Amino acid sequence: MKNTSTILLAATLCVLVFVGSARADCCRRTKNVSFTVESGRCKDVGGVNSSISTCTITICADGTRLIGSYCGHYSCNLFGCNCGGGCLKGKWEKNFIERHPKYKIRILSSKWN
Ligand SMILES: *[C@@H]1O[C@H](CO)[C@@H](O)[C@H](O)[C@H]1NC(C)=O
Ligand SMILES: *[C@@H]1O[C@H](CO)[C@@H](O)[C@H](O)[C@H]1NC(C)=O
Repeated sequence: MKNTSTILLAATLCVLVFVGSARADCCRRTKNVSFTVESGRCKDVGGVNSSISTCTITICADGTRLIGSYCGHYSCNLFGCNCGGGCLKGKWEKNFIERHPKYKIRILSSKWN
């Protein structure tokens, strides 16, 4: 009886740890940012024109352009989880601006995807 409950407890803990880490390892958050560049073009900083004078880009937390579907260092599984090297980290728009100082990026709006 004692052994059974110990095994059950251990199994429960394993499941909790597994679910917790799987959730922590998902890198699905991306941000769609609308901005202007004072000197240069949208594509100089990885964006695309959304009008003659405004640009949009989808970024990861470290301010780099989203490549593929998720924001892991390396590839993730189908659900955006268990990405190689974990998730990219940073301060989103702030890092994006700091990556391209000479273009004087001004953020107009941004939204979570
Ligand atoms: C948007 O595209 C046009 C050409 O289609 C270009 O002349 C203009 O500089 C672009 N705007 C920006 C901010 O990149
Ligand atoms: C960002 O969102 C706008 C509309 O909200 C859309 O037109 C644009 O294509 C998106 N940009 C990117 C890079 O996904």
